[in-house]
Amino acid sequence: MSAKKRLIIAITGATGAIYGVRMLQVLQAQNEWETHLVISSAGLVNLKHELDMTRADLSALADVTHGIHDIAATISSGGFKTEGMIIAPCSMKTLAAVAHGFGDNLISRGADVVLKERRRLVMMPRETPLNLVHIRNMGIVTEMGGIMFPPMPAFYNKTDSLMAMVNETVGRILDMFGVDVTGLYKPWEGL
Ligand SMILES: Cc1cc2nc3c(=O)[nH]c(=O)nc-3n(C[C@H](O)[C@H](O)[C@H](O)COP(=O)(O)O)c2cc1C
Repeated sequence: MSAKKRLIIAITGATGAIYGVRMLQVLQAQNEWETHLVISSAGLVNLKHELDMTRADLSALADVTHGIHDIAATISSGGFKTEGMIIAPCSMKTLAAVAHGFGDNLISRGADVVLKERRRLVMMPRETPLNLVHIRNMGIVTEMGGIMFPPMPAFYNKTDSLMAMVNETVGRILDMFGVDVTGLYKPWEGL
């Protein structure tokens, strides 16, 4: 049994690969966390396009990298204990798969396991505008206990830095898992 707390980070082909990458960077700097990464094929396309990063660059940030089709991976079973899973960013396709229990790859299967074991699942759905199926699927996952955390920047911190906005969203999500996010962003403290 690992002494470290395990967290699954999944990256899909919605725009915003930076969110998943930043989470891995923050977790890598902390000794008590063991990250399990899965990235979809479309996620890899966007990783290259948006950040000029390869699968190898990404793997270097994670403790364990699983293949998207490795349905026999540890995280495919509820017997493998984790603190939960973050899908950042989450495409509407993966959202649909999770909402309907369609575990045909390791991301949708991993999320299915997290939900059935009643562990924490945070998804960062990203699409705009939303059609009715997108909205309904978010509702279905929410009813199952999943948390929808779309990347919506707050403007009250008055920053013009994209990274500050990314850090705030990343920090708020990691905080939900008890990760130390000290210094990553400034929580609202009132006027
Ligand atoms: C540049 C680019 C941006 C995309 N952005 C989004 C997006 O924001 N949201 C979304 O649902 N799909 C987006 N897509 C489409 C998904 O990548 C596509 O539906 C894919 O099948 C998702 O598969 P996955 O969930 O297995 O990664 C984008 C595709 C590309 C090439």
